[in-house]
Amino acid sequence: MDKVERIVEPIKTYSEDIIENSLRPQSLNDFIGQEKLKNNLKVFIKAAKNRQEALDHCLFYAPPGLGKTTLSHIIAKEMNSNLRITSGPVLERVGDLAAILTNLSKGDIFFIDEIHRVNHLVEESLYPVMEDFELDIIIGQGPSAKTIKLPIPRFTLIGATTRAGLLSNSLRDRFGIIEHLDFYGIKDLIHIVKRSAFILNIAIDHTASEEIARRSRGTPRIVNRLLKRVRDFAEVKNCKITLGIAKEALNALEIDDDGLDKMDRLILNILINKFNGGPVGIDTIAVAISEEPDTITDLYEPYLIQSGFIARTSRGRVVTESGYKHFGIEMPKNSPKELF
Ligand SMILES: Nc1ncnc2c1ncn2[C@@H]1O[C@H](COP(=O)(O)OP(=O)(O)O)[C@@H](O)[C@H]1O
Ligand SMILES: [Mg+2]
Repeated sequence: MDKVERIVEPIKTYSEDIIENSLRPQSLNDFIGQEKLKNNLKVFIKAAKNRQEALDHCLFYAPPGLGKTTLSHIIAKEMNSNLRITSGPVLERVGDLAAILTNLSKGDIFFIDEIHRVNHLVEESLYPVMEDFELDIIIGQGPSAKTIKLPIPRFTLIGATTRAGLLSNSLRDRFGIIEHLDFYGIKDLIHIVKRSAFILNIAIDHTASEEIARRSRGTPRIVNRLLKRVRDFAEVKNCKITLGIAKEALNALEIDDDGLDKMDRLILNILINKFNGGPVGIDTIAVAISEEPDTITDLYEPYLIQSGFIARTSRGRVVTESGYKHFGIEMPKNSPKELF
C-alpha cells in the first residue's frame, strides 16, 4: 500500500516550521492547558532563579505535537538562558556530544529531542555529565589509554521523548524533573484554535472552533494544521470560518467526527473484520497495513487508545465496544471483553 499522506499526522512537516514558530506560545502563561505541569514548572523555575542555579534536568514525554519543544523554548526564555537544540539520532559519537557540551555556558539549556534514540555510548557518557558536570574523555588507545575528566559548566539538560518506555532506568533516574504531557481536552483545544486564528488574523465562529477542536485528536499541532486547511476553504468562498465551512473542509479531508482519518479507520476495520476484534499483536497489525510497528505504536495507537476505540491487553490489541460502535457494528458476544 502506498504511504497515505495524513492531514492528522502529528509529526511536523518541513514547511510547517515557519508557521509553527509564529504560533508557538512564548511564555508559560501563554501555554494553554497542562495546568499541573505548568504550575510545577513555575515553582521549579522560580526556585532555581532565586538560588541563581541552573534548573534541574527535565524529561518531557508525550506523543508528538503536544508541546515538548515549545516547553523547552519557554523554559529557556523564562530562565533567560541560551537554548542549544539537537536530537538523539544526530548525536552519533561521544565527540558530537563533547563538541556541544564544551561550548555551553553556565545556565544554558541543552535540548535533546527524541532522546530515546541516542546510542548507548553517548548515553553512558551523559551520566557523569548530568550528575557531576564532568565529561569523561578517553585519550589514546590500548594499555596507554587514559581517561580525563573535562569540567562542563552547570547547565540544564531537557530531554524529549515520545517513548519513555525505551529509556533506560539509568538515564531516566538522572532527570530531576520528569513530566508527562496529556492529550488536550476540548476546552483547551478550542482555546488554542481561537488563539491561533487570532495570530493568523482569521475570523472564526465559536461553533467552528469547537468543530475543529473536536476533530484534532487532542493535539495542538493538528489544531493548527486543520485550522490552516479550513482557512483555505473559507478564503476561496471569501467569508469567515463558519460551522458549515469547517464541516465541509474537514469532511473533504476525510476526517470524521471523532478526528479519525483513513488510516485509523483502516486499522480499526482490519482488527474488526480480519481478526474478529483481536487480541492482535502489534507486529501482525503492522504487516496487515504495511507499516512499521514503531509507527503504529508512536503515531496511531496512542490516540486510538486514548479515545477508547482500542485497548492494550497482555495478549495484544483489542477493539472496544466504542470501536465497534464507531462503525455502527454491534460488538460480537464472543469478544474478549473480559480482557479489559
Ligand atoms: N499548550 C499549547 N498551547 C498553545 N499551542 C501549543 C501548545 N502546545 C503546542 N502548541 C502548538 O503546537 C505546535 C507543536 O508543538 P511542539 O512543541 O512542537 O510539539 P512536540 O515537540 O511535542 O512535538 C507548536 O507550534 C505550538 O504552536
Ligand atoms: Mg518537538
